[in-house]
Amino acid sequence: MTEKELQQLISEMSLEEKVGQMVQRVASEMVSGAIVTGPEGTVETKKMSIGLIGSILNKTGAQTLHDLQKEFIEKHPHHIPLLFMYDVINGMDTIFPIPLAQGCAFSPEMAEECAAMARDEAVAKGLHVNFSPMLDLVRDPRWGRVMESTGEDPYLNGVLGRAMVRGYQKKGNMSACLKHFAGYGAPEGGRDYENVEISERTFREDYLPAYAAVVKEGCCMAMTSFNTWNRIPSTGNKWLIRKVLREEMGFEGVLISDFAAIDEMIRHGIAEDSREAAKLAIEAGVDIDMQSNAYMNHLVDLVRRGEVDEKLIDEAVMRILKLKNSLGLFENPYNGSPEDEKRLLLCQAHRNKARAAAAASFVLLKNEDLLPLKKEEKVAFIGPYVDNFKIHGSWTTLEHPENNVTVKQGVTEKTGACLSAKGAYVLDEGQKTRMFDPEERPVSEEELLREAVALAEKADKVVLCLGEHRHQTGEGGSRTSITLSKGQLRLLEEVAAVNKNIVSVVFSGRPVELKRVQALSQSLMMVWMPGTEGGNAIADVLYGDAVPQGKLSMTLPRSVGQVPMYYNCFRTGRPNPTGDRVGFIHGYIDESTKPLYPFGYGLSYTTFDYTPVSVDRTEMTKDRAVEAAVTVTNTGSFPGTETVQLYLQDVKGSVIRPLKMLRGFQKVSLQPGESRTVSFQITEDMLRFYDINMVYTSEPGLFRVYIGTDSDTQNAAEFTLTE
Ligand code: GLC
Repeated sequence: MTEKELQQLISEMSLEEKVGQMVQRVASEMVSGAIVTGPEGTVETKKMSIGLIGSILNKTGAQTLHDLQKEFIEKHPHHIPLLFMYDVINGMDTIFPIPLAQGCAFSPEMAEECAAMARDEAVAKGLHVNFSPMLDLVRDPRWGRVMESTGEDPYLNGVLGRAMVRGYQKKGNMSACLKHFAGYGAPEGGRDYENVEISERTFREDYLPAYAAVVKEGCCMAMTSFNTWNRIPSTGNKWLIRKVLREEMGFEGVLISDFAAIDEMIRHGIAEDSREAAKLAIEAGVDIDMQSNAYMNHLVDLVRRGEVDEKLIDEAVMRILKLKNSLGLFENPYNGSPEDEKRLLLCQAHRNKARAAAAASFVLLKNEDLLPLKKEEKVAFIGPYVDNFKIHGSWTTLEHPENNVTVKQGVTEKTGACLSAKGAYVLDEGQKTRMFDPEERPVSEEELLREAVALAEKADKVVLCLGEHRHQTGEGGSRTSITLSKGQLRLLEEVAAVNKNIVSVVFSGRPVELKRVQALSQSLMMVWMPGTEGGNAIADVLYGDAVPQGKLSMTLPRSVGQVPMYYNCFRTGRPNPTGDRVGFIHGYIDESTKPLYPFGYGLSYTTFDYTPVSVDRTEMTKDRAVEAAVTVTNTGSFPGTETVQLYLQDVKGSVIRPLKMLRGFQKVSLQPGESRTVSFQITEDMLRFYDINMVYTSEPGLFRVYIGTDSDTQNAAEFTLTE
């Protein structure tokens, strides 16, 4: 339809119909009655027919959605199709590594390919909109949703977020949805839904850039966040939406609230009731109300009584109808088919990509010659993640975890056998997870331990497969302690007492505390939540058929007491270079200020040598860039892939500036002995920041350019930006 035809359609629609387009309900309500829970758990009668709404969430299946859509369109007064929306965070039926793991691959190409395959499966199942990518910057691993972010760096998150949007949207028929706008990743104390207390400068400098990058990529939808910023809930924050998102970032797409977030403004204490919440949200610029009763029960009345300008309704409805139009719904309201599902879901091509992506996302943190394993070695695989299907993370409503490949299956497939013992449960007795997903405990912990130690005693090496429960992260998955369970730590101690050759493989949705695991393991690798092909990918890396290449996308602290902790921090007036000096100096008396492993860190089976950074000039102007370069050599005996990282430091500014800022990275694959020169163009726009007057600009002065293997690199050169 043309815009003129859309305008005509809007002019013919009743006010109820128009408001209906702005209402999203869970699919289950399409069949249930009119009663829904209101704010504070009250029970309210819907004042709007479910036959007028504009979209539903939380239902998949081509045939189911076809049937639902057909019946809905026939009954709708203007036959306007529904949008079907869903959370396909790291895959639909084929599950890819969680986004935090994909961040560790530092590969926009891979992120785009995984997103494109997830899109194909989601479209096959009849969906139109994917509530992804999540662009929330994260610096506090206590927060459960770090698993859903690509990490702690604004630049990396923007690059990967753009790649995911391309993957979801480039073939058409599907819209991505950037979320959660904005700053949801900085809740005080890591407590989910908590207030966010950061300065506007920090907000703009660190938290907003990734959302802006994805808007620039053409993301068609955005979602508000549950949190407040500047003590205003995002869903009612007119400055954040109309000034920052729409005016500054140029977002012209549809803005949906997060789940029931409009009515949550009552509980936040800035709306007297659902009616006032509706007014706040529409005036702030929220187009669709996801599953609260505000728009459904009050928006028509607010317009009728002249308290809300109908123009605001028409603007929102136009954006919604434009989205439906851009997805071709008026010509074909049906995505996918049972045949597409049969052809695409969990197909071998998707499994192969999931396997390669998982292997690329693993981060090898330590390796004192135990890896790669040899097939002729007697290796005992011990731990609750050896024979565990639940390795797909918390944001997947996977009905069939048995489609996943366990470590035991992967190792058996590769070597013909897998000596194994469970050794411990994932959780301690009574330990909570965010969702009910209980762990059967048929055997006593003592019995599990005894069996495991006996096996460890007879093995050349032990691979300990440890980790968090998949529901110890995700929405509502915040923890005050980020350690492994006591049972697993006891297993580690008891096995280490009889066999020193320990390789620890850790499954988690967040950086976990690994000091003790690191001390007792000769080799240590983070595999996060690797998804459908996790077991095969782990076997590939352990036996050297894939060489580890991942780099931490989020700092791994020594202790939860250190968080929030991130690489792009500040020097302070009393720097502590070694991190563990005590006295009148930055830091603690009982812990270092250094992490266990820094952002950007990750080992290979080979080693890489870097030449000193060279620059083609030592003066930069706004019109003349500086080219910085290094030559990287594979100095080991394995082929390997290295992520060469470029960091900049503004040595002095009108406000304090971070020690380092990631401004580029390039992955190079090198054969043993091979060298490659890697160069980066540094331009003036990469030096800009919000100065003392909150003007986004660069300032003349001295800059350092670092190029190295992780954010700790001291391989640097200098240049000056002149006027
Ligand atoms: C949830 C999440 C959001 C998700 C939405 C729909 O509460 O915060 O990320 O997209 O509801 O499931």
